Amino acid sequence: MRRREFLGGTAAAAGLVWAYSPRLAFSQSTDARIELLLDEHLGTISPNIYGHFVENLSGVVYDGIWVGEKSKVPNVGGIRKELIDEMRKIKPGVVRFPGGCFADSYDWRDGVGPTDKRPRRTNFWSGGEAPAAPDTHRYDPNQFGTNEFAQFCKQIGGEPYFAANLRSLPAEQFYRWVEYCNSPAGSTTLADDRAAAGFKDPFNVKYWGVGNEAWGCGGNFLPQEYATEFRRFTAWVPGYKVPLKFIGSGPDSANWAWTRGFFEDMVRKGKGQLDSLFGWALHHYAWNMSRGKTSDWNKAKGDAVNFDVTDWCEILRQGEQVETLINGHWQIMGEFDPEHKVKLVVDEWGPWYKSGSELTPGDQLEQLPTLRDGVFSGMTLDIFNRNPEKVTMACCAQLINCLNSLYLAHEDRFCVTPVGHVFAMYAAHQGGESVRAEFSAPAVHYDRDGQAASFWGLRGSASLHDKQLIVTAVNPNVKDACETQIGVRGARVTSAEASVLSASDIHARNTFEQRQAVAPKAASVRLSGDSAMFSFPAASVTKLTLQLG
Ligand code: AHR
Repeated sequence: MRRREFLGGTAAAAGLVWAYSPRLAFSQSTDARIELLLDEHLGTISPNIYGHFVENLSGVVYDGIWVGEKSKVPNVGGIRKELIDEMRKIKPGVVRFPGGCFADSYDWRDGVGPTDKRPRRTNFWSGGEAPAAPDTHRYDPNQFGTNEFAQFCKQIGGEPYFAANLRSLPAEQFYRWVEYCNSPAGSTTLADDRAAAGFKDPFNVKYWGVGNEAWGCGGNFLPQEYATEFRRFTAWVPGYKVPLKFIGSGPDSANWAWTRGFFEDMVRKGKGQLDSLFGWALHHYAWNMSRGKTSDWNKAKGDAVNFDVTDWCEILRQGEQVETLINGHWQIMGEFDPEHKVKLVVDEWGPWYKSGSELTPGDQLEQLPTLRDGVFSGMTLDIFNRNPEKVTMACCAQLINCLNSLYLAHEDRFCVTPVGHVFAMYAAHQGGESVRAEFSAPAVHYDRDGQAASFWGLRGSASLHDKQLIVTAVNPNVKDACETQIGVRGARVTSAEASVLSASDIHARNTFEQRQAVAPKAASVRLSGDSAMFSFPAASVTKLTLQLG
């Protein structure tokens, strides 16, 4: 076990104790063991769990994605080229747009037709904009609408997922939006409008969210009321060539009553009603850093870049709750849908910190991801990988210039955050068969304001791709590496390589000036008999690529 030379200043100052629990009996020389059970298949890992969320919120669209065709920032049809290039590397699945809360204020008709004729509208988020924010953040110029978003998806190799307005538009406009996107060339007036904009062929959009957070900003409904609205919106929507997949506005975190109330009401009308529900959207943000002192949304949030070891551990602890939430909501859904035809769609997830770390002053909800957020994201993607039969889609909130962003950009400056690097590393899992991976590692112990607390030591996921096994893991221990023996039951490892994201300072992050402060590095894996040996560095995310004989 290698002791860490450097521990971030605030962590050391906090005098926190991190220690391994007694070593496991199976080996004198290793701290931990991973056992990969090749014949225990959990399901195929959908590329769509590697999805993204783009809301028309502050700097996400205007500046982040859309720079305009006349911009001196390199662009492809108005879309930031550096973003396209980076996103192609991560094989994005679905991209959800235009919100979030914004979605239930948006009229899709404002964002189609000649760009110089499109109206300017007050943005849903205008009230929270800082004085430094540009006008485009407060007043939506509608230059980036359906056509531009569809082009963006095409350029990056992603799949569009629209969130439709349920709160402030009639169901008819939902049908019309689908018609605009999907009706065949020449078939309808809206197909002609689409062709006039340069898009003769339909966009064939499959995924449609029916409102967003209908328990809150999406209409303040009761679950039973929302079930009625959901049925009304989704009854008899023409799908044209593609089967439409509707996603219902599901719960916030542990709002079990929302899931139960909705499903109960759907089957009260008849069991077949669930046939129109492809996915049930769960939102989970990790935000309460008060260590149990308050649940006040404004007071409990922590700082994105200034944190100690306890904060590090607390945010991971809240993030990993998503696995409990997946299991809990899945169980309730199963009471009404025993065959589990309806899957979970975790279409907003990530840590949410207080404002103050934004690289671009005036970007509302922008935060500066550190190594901690890379570890958080690896942990979350591993959870989705381990639950492929339950989670069919997921979207990290949000893609650029916002919460847990993969990228930050302003004018001609751009950087990939540790979160973006984790998505690039984990892309190798997509389409693979998730196999059971048993992790056995000493827990990490820490001090939670005088109370002893602990967190697991090493966890991850594995997927099989013919003769290649991809294993990803996070070591949340900020002090110590974890020497690990890796055994594959049912095959022999013939060669192995590793890619590691870590840094000597747990607060490390990339900025416009220091774009490579945190980036994955190759590391070597030792083969010993039938096993592989790897030392997972402290505070790290690792991808192992094992070739099997
Ligand atoms: O991601 C920011 C906001 O968080 C979204 O608009 C909303 O759906 C959620 O509450």
